[in-house]
Amino acid sequence: MPISLKLSSSTLRDSDSEVIALGVTESPFDKQKALVVLDEALAKKLLVHAARVKFTGGSGQILDVPTLGQLPASRVVLVGLGKVRRGLGVADLRAYAATAARQAISAGSLRLFLPEKTAGAESLRAVGEGIGLGAYRFTKYLTGKRRPDTELTQVEVSRPTKGTAAEAKALQLGLDLAGAVGLARDAVNEPPNELTPEGLAELARGIAKRGKLKLKVLDKKGIQAAGMKLHYAVGQGSSNEPRFIHLTYAPSKPKAKLVFVGKGLTFDSGGLCIKPAPGMGEMKTDMGGAAAVLGLAEAVALLQPQVEVHVLVGAAENMPDGTAYRPGDVFGSLDGKTVEIINTDAEGRLVLADALAYARQLEPDLIIDAATLTGACLVALGKGCSAFYVDDNKTARRFEDAANLAGEQFWRLPLIEELREQLKSDIADLKHTGERYGGSITAALFLQEFVGDTPWIHCDVAGPVLADRARGIYPKGATGHPVLTFVSFVESFG
Ligand code: BES
Ligand code: MN
Ligand code: ZN
Repeated sequence: MPISLKLSSSTLRDSDSEVIALGVTESPFDKQKALVVLDEALAKKLLVHAARVKFTGGSGQILDVPTLGQLPASRVVLVGLGKVRRGLGVADLRAYAATAARQAISAGSLRLFLPEKTAGAESLRAVGEGIGLGAYRFTKYLTGKRRPDTELTQVEVSRPTKGTAAEAKALQLGLDLAGAVGLARDAVNEPPNELTPEGLAELARGIAKRGKLKLKVLDKKGIQAAGMKLHYAVGQGSSNEPRFIHLTYAPSKPKAKLVFVGKGLTFDSGGLCIKPAPGMGEMKTDMGGAAAVLGLAEAVALLQPQVEVHVLVGAAENMPDGTAYRPGDVFGSLDGKTVEIINTDAEGRLVLADALAYARQLEPDLIIDAATLTGACLVALGKGCSAFYVDDNKTARRFEDAANLAGEQFWRLPLIEELREQLKSDIADLKHTGERYGGSITAALFLQEFVGDTPWIHCDVAGPVLADRARGIYPKGATGHPVLTFVSFVESFG
C-alpha cells in the first residue's frame, strides 16, 4: 500500500500516530525545545533514560522507547543528527526521515517532527525522499509467517509553523522519487533466475510507458546486426540472451544532452574463468549500474527537467558453456577497435565498451556510466564508497556537489596514463585487462579507449550498490546507489 502523507502544524498532544519521531542534535541535545516538551509529556523520564543508555544525539544513534500510556502514541523514537553547525543540509534531513521511517516500518503510522527551522521545497522534498527510502522493504519472496502483516501507510510531517502548498507538493514529489530509487533496489534484490537481460528490458518497457519515454530494445540478433561484437561475445554463453536498452527523455528546449550508461550483468559467474563459489550469489547485483540508470530514467520522467537524458543499458548474463567466449579470443567492437580477451571475468568493460561507443554516436555533452566493475575498487575505497573518474576538474566538482546533496559517497580516482601500457596486446589493438594492482584504474583506462573526445565520467560502484546493514538512507541489501546522485547531477544542468 502506498504511504499517504500529510504536512501539519499540530503538536505532540494531538498526535494520534503510533510512533512519534524526533531528530535531535548532539551537544547539547537535551536543551532542544521539542525534546523538553516530549520529556515533560513522559513525566521527565525520557532524558533520564537517554542519559542512562548513553544516548547523546550522535549521528545514527537511535533511542526507541515505549510511552506506556503517557501519550496517545505507543512509541517515541529519537534519532541522533550528530553535531550540526550551519543548520541541517538536505542530505541530513533525508537520512533523518529515512531512519525514522525505517524504525516505524511495521507501525502503521508515524508522526515525524521536523528539526527546527526546516523549511522550503528543497528540504521538504528531501524529507519525502527519506520517508520513502526508509519505508522500503523487499518482501516479494516471503510467505506465511515470514510475510510482514503490517506496514507504514500514514506519515504526518509536523513542525510548529504551517506548511505551504509548495512544500506539501515537494514532500509528495520526494516520496515519488523514492519510488524511483525503490525500482532500482527491487531490480538489484531480484534473484538472477527471475531478473534476466529480458527482465531488464521488461523493466525499461514499464518505465517508458509510465514516463512517456522513447524506448528501443535490441535482442541478440539486433546486437549482432548493430555491430556490438563485445557485448555479443559476453552474452553468447548464456541461454538468457543479451539485450541492449535505449530510453530517451527529450524535452522541448534542452539546456544539455546527457547519456547515462549502466552495466547490466544480471548474473556474473565469471564465465569460463569461473569465480570461486563463496560469494558468487552476490553477483546477481552485477546489474547495479543498470538498475541505477533505469531508476534515474523513472525519476527524470517525474521531474521533467529541461535536460535531454538518454539511458543505455548493456544487459547480458556471463556464463560458462560450450558456446561461451574464451580467454585468447579476439573480437572487433562497435568502435572498430579489436580486443584480445584475457580473462572472461572482466566482462563488464566489454559490454560497456560497445555501449559507450553507441553513446558517443548520440553526440552528447557528457557521458556518465555506472558499473559494478572491479573488486579492486572495493579494495581501494571499501564497501561504502564509489570511485569516479573524470578528466575535467570543473565536471568533477559539479559531480561531487551532486553526490554531497544526495548524501552518497564518491571519491575521485586518477586516470594514470602510465598504466595504459598494460592494455597493449601483441595480436589486437587492445588487451582488456591489466595487472592486479590498480585494477579499477586500468578498467577505467580501457573504457576511455571507447569514448573518444566526448566528455565522460566513469563510476565504479562495485561496493555501495549493496549494504550489509541498514544505515541512513540505505537499507540492508540493495541500496539504490547512485540514483540520487545522478538525479541531483541532472538537475544541476537545468
Ligand atoms: N562484477 C565484477 C566486479 C565485482 C567484484 C563487483 C566484487 C562487486 C563485487 C567484475 O565483472 C569482475 O569480475 N572483475 C574482475 C576483473 C578482473 C578479472 C580483471 C575483478 O575485479 O576481479
Ligand atoms: Mn566479472
Ligand atoms: Zn561483472
